[in-house]
Amino acid sequence: MSCQFIMPKQIFYGEGALEQAAPTLAGCGSRALIVTDPVMVKLGNVSSVTEMLKKADVGFAVFEGVTGEPTDKMVEAGRKVWESEKCDFLVAVGGGSPIDTMKAIGVVAVNGGSINDWYGKEITGELPPMTAIPTTSGTGSEATQFTIITNSEADIKMLLKGKPLMPDIAVVDPRFTMTAPPAITAATGLDALCHAAEAYTSRKAQHMTDTLAVSAVKRIFQYLPICYVEGENAQARMQMSLAALEAGIAFNNASVTVIHGMSRPIGALFHVPHGVSNAMLLPACFAYVYREAADRFADLGRAIGVAGSEDADIDAAEKFIHACERLCRSCHIPTPEEYGIGKVDFLEKIPKMTQDALASGSPANTRKELSAEDIETIYRAVLS
Ligand SMILES: [Fe+2]
Repeated sequence: MSCQFIMPKQIFYGEGALEQAAPTLAGCGSRALIVTDPVMVKLGNVSSVTEMLKKADVGFAVFEGVTGEPTDKMVEAGRKVWESEKCDFLVAVGGGSPIDTMKAIGVVAVNGGSINDWYGKEITGELPPMTAIPTTSGTGSEATQFTIITNSEADIKMLLKGKPLMPDIAVVDPRFTMTAPPAITAATGLDALCHAAEAYTSRKAQHMTDTLAVSAVKRIFQYLPICYVEGENAQARMQMSLAALEAGIAFNNASVTVIHGMSRPIGALFHVPHGVSNAMLLPACFAYVYREAADRFADLGRAIGVAGSEDADIDAAEKFIHACERLCRSCHIPTPEEYGIGKVDFLEKIPKMTQDALASGSPANTRKELSAEDIETIYRAVLS
């Protein structure tokens, strides 16, 4: 069986990656639209990039309207700035939200119309040059051909897909992650764990994604707990930025599975940050599906050292899932109720969430076949 493997054209990573990327970035065009959020501006992360562009005599405009998880309205606001400022290339500085927004702005800048028109369609055509500079270690959006945008009328987190959404350049410089607070570090780090573990246990897993996924899982178990309690630890931040990149490339090519499929509806309806809703679901989802992929989950248990060759696959797989539960607990991931979601409200929304989860296509990548009844059972298990 042949496989296809897609990644950014150029990746700069490690300490000093931004400086190394400067000539390449400056060669992308004459006026950049920098897509970001107000926190990135305040922290000085945006000025690191704008200073670099000034030195290279490249113009820029800053759109800092990504004030939460991206919506169709933010995309439209960004497109207006792109047009009025006559930009010709895109740079995102921030977590997954600015990067996903940048991709969607690229789509509507070229094609016109609303980003909502693309739900359920493959994105094609040529987008403006895109550079992603992540400031969290988690979403992997710098290395994926996906963007997730909320249709604010329909309350659906749309998973949009297409090769043109892959950034041309990824600049993964751990300096930008040093200021991420513990809650963001935990949520984004556990998102990366889901990317890697789902990619490894996906029906679409392939040799090259396996290598990256296992490597990412090992780094996350070793370094996420350190980053969570000791945010200034440069070595741990470096390892987590690498893990998130590996996990992003892995799931871009092997897809995510049940957790991400079920997580997006929780995010859309209850406004839970992506990494938190994933982590809320992680133990219940994996506990429900691991028997059909015990060898794969067992590999991960052995890779992180909680199981050995003496353990049967089924036991090693269970040990991995228990280790995931412990990691989520140590990162203080809330239950839906602790997050403030009413039990009755959640139960009422299970049919819609189930429908939206299945419609995204992600649950079908799980090695266990999942019916609507299965998805509903898992949603109920998350509440108990
Ligand atoms: Fe994710």
